[in-house]
Amino acid sequence: MLVKQGKEKKWFRAVWRQNSTVKMIDQRLLPKKFKIISLKNHKQTVKAIENMAVRGAGSIGATAAFGAMQAVLEAKPKNFKQFIERAFYRLRHTRPTAHDLFWAIERIDFAIQEKNPRKAKISAIKEAEKISSEYCERGKKIGKHGEKLLKNGTRMLTHCNAGWLALLDWGSALAPVYAAKRNGKIVFVFVDETRPRLQGAKLTAWELANEGIPHRIIADNAAGYYMSEGKIDLCIVGADRIAANGDTANKIGTYEKAVLAKENSIPFYVAAPTSTFDPNTKNGKKIVIEERPEREVLFIGKQRIAPKKSRAFNVAFDVTKAKYIKGIITEKGIIKPKKKAIKRLF
Ligand code: MRU
Repeated sequence: MLVKQGKEKKWFRAVWRQNSTVKMIDQRLLPKKFKIISLKNHKQTVKAIENMAVRGAGSIGATAAFGAMQAVLEAKPKNFKQFIERAFYRLRHTRPTAHDLFWAIERIDFAIQEKNPRKAKISAIKEAEKISSEYCERGKKIGKHGEKLLKNGTRMLTHCNAGWLALLDWGSALAPVYAAKRNGKIVFVFVDETRPRLQGAKLTAWELANEGIPHRIIADNAAGYYMSEGKIDLCIVGADRIAANGDTANKIGTYEKAVLAKENSIPFYVAAPTSTFDPNTKNGKKIVIEERPEREVLFIGKQRIAPKKSRAFNVAFDVTKAKYIKGIITEKGIIKPKKKAIKRLF
């Protein structure tokens, strides 16, 4: 997307490749600072996923693909296989919930199978680029399908960040909003702030402001009020992993928004590319939920907000049961969150 840089607007993608270097927008610094970081080897890319310089399932997937590519390029013929296996293991153990991470590494792994080091390196570059451009294409199609749900003046709620920083170029939950804008429709977005990492207040709001889309940030516990007041017409959120039965893991707080939406008869949609579906996971109970440091809850920035003796729990995701989801917006169309419909996607 175009980003204001001084007086000019320049086009950026959340993550990309320059030869064997991975480049990305450092999402930890937004909205204060817009900075591109360069990751010169797979170990630096592993760190960038772990320390959340990159966020959002799709962008994590693209980063993992490039990180896996870097490992293949770094491997020496002497211990080619072992080096790659170790590097892939490290990549797989960065963050547990986003399915795209595992999916992307699998694709690179498959692309280099049975190849000599020289051919494997070429295949790894090609496959990583293919994954990245597929993400862009998928986001665009999600926008096209999802846009049909939005009228001029629709008031939509979203949680966390599922825009172009989170899934290359278009995003998932925000892709329909961007598509609607290009078709002359103005959608108003309620942005949940998304404690503790504030992806909504920091990243979604930054994206929307940058695109000139009307929005307001609301406290995480305010959505129920606005729903009950008839101020929200529909909800669209992203996803980190969708089980075979449609149960969906997304940023902590998504589940309660879905229950509230049902209580208030507001349609609740999930938007995700097919790479986020995990047909091997039967239902939401089987999804591994990431637990993060308690510090993220006890502090805001460097400021401790809780008493010294208090401790915290900090789960990063929750699971919304399929029964709360009206439909899943994918690049192949809007489907029901049902086993059969999901099976047909693959
Ligand atoms: O912990 P994060 O910031 O990586 O979590 C991001 C989310 O939960 C997004 O809503 C989700 O990945 C969908 S984005 C395509």
